Amino acid sequence: MSSSVIPVITIDGPAGSGKGTIARQLAAILSYHYLDSGALYRALALQSQEQNIKPDDCESLLALCQKMNVRFGVSAPDKSNISQEHVSVYLNDREVMEELRTEDCAARASQLASQPKVREALLNKQRSFRKAPGLVAEGRDMGTVVFPDAESKFFLTASPKERALRRQKQLKKQGISASLGPLLTDIETRDSRDQNRKVSPLRPATDALLVDSTELSIEQVVNRIAEVVRGRH
Ligand code: DC
Repeated sequence: MSSSVIPVITIDGPAGSGKGTIARQLAAILSYHYLDSGALYRALALQSQEQNIKPDDCESLLALCQKMNVRFGVSAPDKSNISQEHVSVYLNDREVMEELRTEDCAARASQLASQPKVREALLNKQRSFRKAPGLVAEGRDMGTVVFPDAESKFFLTASPKERALRRQKQLKKQGISASLGPLLTDIETRDSRDQNRKVSPLRPATDALLVDSTELSIEQVVNRIAEVVRGRH
């Protein structure tokens, strides 16, 4: 199968919109491969920090991108309930999920993601995840830039307050107590940077279906999306 005929489902949206959970579940239901593109930006952020590479040292960042090998492992007993704890991210064969999830790594990843050369360097890496029988790819520019020919595109949103609440709940599960105010500020700062950068700003593809998850459960969103995807087969 040539890579352009391998089906891709793209799920884009801001942090906390639920796209990760939804994408993982959808990939499991359809037995498709899964790409968390944000994890690639985070992995680059982590590795560059460990190697003391400055965020504006483009040349070293590009060299790092080329050597970087990221793969995902999903192990969940129940396909309808795959949380982040069931996903492993291997960076050059080292499991790094926890390190990638820190706020510090997220902030650095967002900084790197605003650089056109970094985005370009990660383009082929992201496209290499397109393998039979299909791919569910989640991120910010999956439908607009990385897989513009994807067969089904979705853009997930939720109000900033709802997203901050979800983040607070997630942290609580990890035993971390955080107040809502700073989480909300964090989300709004990151949104603004992601939406206003010159290259690949966060915006829905013109042919994406918009889904507002503020008042919907994960199950409701997954069912809605799965219904649309099945209707296209
Ligand atoms: O989804 P996330 O929080 O793991 O993403 C980490 C950062 O990378 C975030 O600032 C947005 C950026 N990113 C991006 O610019 N394009 C993508 N396709 C995925 C993530």
